[in-house]
Amino acid sequence: MATVLEMPQPEKTAHAAAARPASEIPLASGLPFLGNTLEMAKDPAAFFVRCYHDYGPVFKVKVFGRESIVIAGPEAALFMTTREGRDALRSKEFNQGVADEYGATEVINGVDGPRHIRLRTLMREGFSREAVHGQYDAMVEITDRALARKWSAGARLPVVEAIQYLIVEQLGMIMTGQAPLDYVEDIRFAILTILNVLVTRQRPQIMLRDPRYKRARQRVDQLGQHMITDFRQRLEAGTAPDNLITDIIRANRDDKDLMPDRNLILTVTGPYVAGLDTAANTIAACIYGILKEPGVAARVQAEADELFAKDTLTEEDFRKLPVINGAVMEAMRLWPIAVAQMRATNYDFEFGGYVIPKDALLYVGTSVPHFMPEFFPEPMKFDIDRYQRPRAEHLQKGAYSPFGRGPHSCLGQGLAEVLMAMCVARIFHRFDLALPTPDYVLKTKTTPTPGPAMSFAVRIVRERHAGLV
Ligand code: HEM
Repeated sequence: MATVLEMPQPEKTAHAAAARPASEIPLASGLPFLGNTLEMAKDPAAFFVRCYHDYGPVFKVKVFGRESIVIAGPEAALFMTTREGRDALRSKEFNQGVADEYGATEVINGVDGPRHIRLRTLMREGFSREAVHGQYDAMVEITDRALARKWSAGARLPVVEAIQYLIVEQLGMIMTGQAPLDYVEDIRFAILTILNVLVTRQRPQIMLRDPRYKRARQRVDQLGQHMITDFRQRLEAGTAPDNLITDIIRANRDDKDLMPDRNLILTVTGPYVAGLDTAANTIAACIYGILKEPGVAARVQAEADELFAKDTLTEEDFRKLPVINGAVMEAMRLWPIAVAQMRATNYDFEFGGYVIPKDALLYVGTSVPHFMPEFFPEPMKFDIDRYQRPRAEHLQKGAYSPFGRGPHSCLGQGLAEVLMAMCVARIFHRFDLALPTPDYVLKTKTTPTPGPAMSFAVRIVRERHAGLV
């Protein structure tokens, strides 16, 4: 499907010779001057699906006056997981800005090759499902503590923001044993600005000079510094917990090449950057889907009630939630936070019959199949039963990639799945919610990451079960 052109691979020359030059890659139709800027800003997932239908798996888009190549569809998703995909693509260009902002040499999602593997190995366990091992009951308490702050019967609640607070508290608990309550607002503000300006580049650099941002960044640094000091002491005293932050601090002590001092603050506060907007957007979209699709809320509540009737909760209990996990998976399919993965190319290679040139900036539209009826019949329907066997629609090749594909696929997937299931289960166990009106249609945003608009609010109709706090 894809063939390296520049590297000496004689058996592939014939294939390569047949490939058409990049100049012939079709440019997506758009508006004069603006090109595809508006269509992309409005709904990037729908835009890529439209282009895939019109042009196939390779096309160009013009956004803000700049043309970029897109490879999309199941072909592109599968390409990401091949050796060719791994070797041909790099991610530094799109992530070094965040490292620079923190004075760090690198950030994990901007590193490739053997060094990237070493960093992933270091952090794999801390970011996994096992990170919550033995803490499920504490997580329920933390969730209730966060819910107690804003979720009360009769209230109209903007969902995305409320969930962002919840996620910061949960992540803080898992990583440090404490929710960083005094820092929640600063973490949110700094991280959303960083994502907007430095990662997705949808806002101007001048926002980094805003005094409010600078203050929030200083506070995040302060939090990072506290975490570092605290965990260094605990490591010395032999009382450090078995978790991500301990692994990072230990690496800094034992292997300065892998984890130099200057990378520490970004690395220990990194989970907030990676987890805040992604999980909050998905949970908010999931709440919408559950409330919108008739009959689903009652099924979610029945499953959640059964879960919380147990004396103590374990990892196994969270794996076995077909209704709730199905709803979360549907939210990730229909409202993917990573519509495309952004990469640069290391050398010329062939994809879909065209030459993709060296040093091109590339969008890899791995979410396009999420909307293809060939994979997901009635693709716009929020159908939580798709994932159960014998249907298991997500298991078809290249069909489902909410956590990305390839060497940089989400390292926090296991942790994210637990957090999201916990939030959805607890919220629907505790409350009856309603959409603003029964015919309400979700408004979405694209900055910093695609998801429900900040204005999306639900009505808390009544409290079904009291919380622990
Ligand atoms: C709904 C929740 C989430 C979704 C859909 C999601 C999705 C993704 C995607 C698509 C990528 C790949 C980006 C790329 O290839 O350029 C990624 C990377 C990553 N995610 Fe997540 N993520 C979620 C939550 C989390 C959470 C909660 C954490 C940790 C607390 C996390 C940690 C990471 C890390 C560390 C990477 C970088 C991996 C690497 O570069 O090797 N994610 N995520």
